Amino acid sequence: MDMLKITGGTPLYGIVPISGSKNATLPAMCATLLTNEPVTLENVPWLSDTQFMGKILANLGTNCAKDMENADKYTYHTQVITNSVAPYDLVRQMRASYYVLGPLLARNGAATVSMPGGCVIGARPVDMHVDSLKQMGADINIQNGYIVANAEHGLHGAELNFKTPSVGATCNVLMAATLANGQTIINNAAREPEIVDLANMLNSMGAKVSGAGESVVQIEGVKKLTGTTHKIIADRIEAGSYAVAAAITRGKLELKNADAGTLGLPLDILHKSGVDIQSTQNTIVVDARGRELKGQDIITAGYPGFPTDLQAQFMALMTTAKGDSTITENIFENRLMHAPELMRMGAHIDKNTPNSAVVQGVEKLDGCIVTASDLRAGFALVLMGLAAQGDTFVRHLYHLERGYVDLVGKLSNVDAKISRVKEK
Ligand code: EPZ
Repeated sequence: MDMLKITGGTPLYGIVPISGSKNATLPAMCATLLTNEPVTLENVPWLSDTQFMGKILANLGTNCAKDMENADKYTYHTQVITNSVAPYDLVRQMRASYYVLGPLLARNGAATVSMPGGCVIGARPVDMHVDSLKQMGADINIQNGYIVANAEHGLHGAELNFKTPSVGATCNVLMAATLANGQTIINNAAREPEIVDLANMLNSMGAKVSGAGESVVQIEGVKKLTGTTHKIIADRIEAGSYAVAAAITRGKLELKNADAGTLGLPLDILHKSGVDIQSTQNTIVVDARGRELKGQDIITAGYPGFPTDLQAQFMALMTTAKGDSTITENIFENRLMHAPELMRMGAHIDKNTPNSAVVQGVEKLDGCIVTASDLRAGFALVLMGLAAQGDTFVRHLYHLERGYVDLVGKLSNVDAKISRVKEK
């Protein structure tokens, strides 16, 4: 198995091109099931997760074609849904596969989707998805680890009250409601930019979605959706991850094709810590050269709060800042398990409650062999390696390949000493 070798201590300098958003692409790919016409997506990131979603769709009858000229352009065409089962051996490998539930039900009136199961960061239940679709008229049974759903007379609109602003449940319901009979209202909907991007794509297919990005979203069902061409938004989590790379190495990076408007709070916190941030419409310049950073508290919340997907990266940064920083994780029940790996590199972290930790900045971090437990914790370990003295080896590279396009190439191009090596 491959791992990353990083020799730390070099301030990063240069330009990092930001790719399309993984978390906007995955629901957008599922939305292509809602029509029998071809749908083209542009700015699709080449990741193991997006490639895997392509397998899931192909298994349902979708023809996926990569554009010959543009590497990030794909056309998905599901003339007929030939199979409405998303099997366990596929879904268990990528949880977001269950985003096909809503579109399959809306288009085909039937769906059998394996329960996605939890992951290291938490149990990640799907009760809100199931309850919402039941309120929209679906007959759903959980049997043998599968969600078996039927809506032979179609779905109907409903007023749904979310107990928590779930991104996935908002996506699934949004897609299902576009073809339901009547109006659906989602109260306490997730407000992430990826939801807005999905709504924009659905509306370009003839859907009638209003209020996306706010807590109350309304969808008027229509009879049919058409094909479209939709450009995926920039990946705000990738951009935020590289912004931290500039800060933790005390370097300067220009993030190209990045949207500062989707990174409000993280950029504010970087600025408060002492980093200089300059942004234009599609670039963010992060300059931490020669600066001593001050610790900042981080409390994760649904958008526009601090994104849980940047928590691990900011924890890594705070290990090198002066003073104490309290990191509180409110979204997932087990998303602080990168802390012990950071401590092996010399970080001072005190896990004072089940969902919070106090980080005391240190002068020096030591490179060593560490293991990535999930996608974002993996990037946090890369950040620590970039800042540490000596060599760091990050194991379980496959986690990183799920969500970061050409990580080694992008970092090497801005002076990082990083390479893939075989695990000893
Ligand atoms: C999406 O996951 C993202 N994944 C996650 O990114 C992200 O961390 C998360 O949203 C929160 O922003 C994709 O977009 C593919 P949720 P999702 O439903 O939809 C609870 C990454 O690193 N909940 O918003 O699964 C749940 O337990 C990944 O790119 C229920 O209780 O997250 C959690 O505590 C990691 N019942 C909270 O809601 C439900 O039915 C938020 O989860 C659904 C969710």
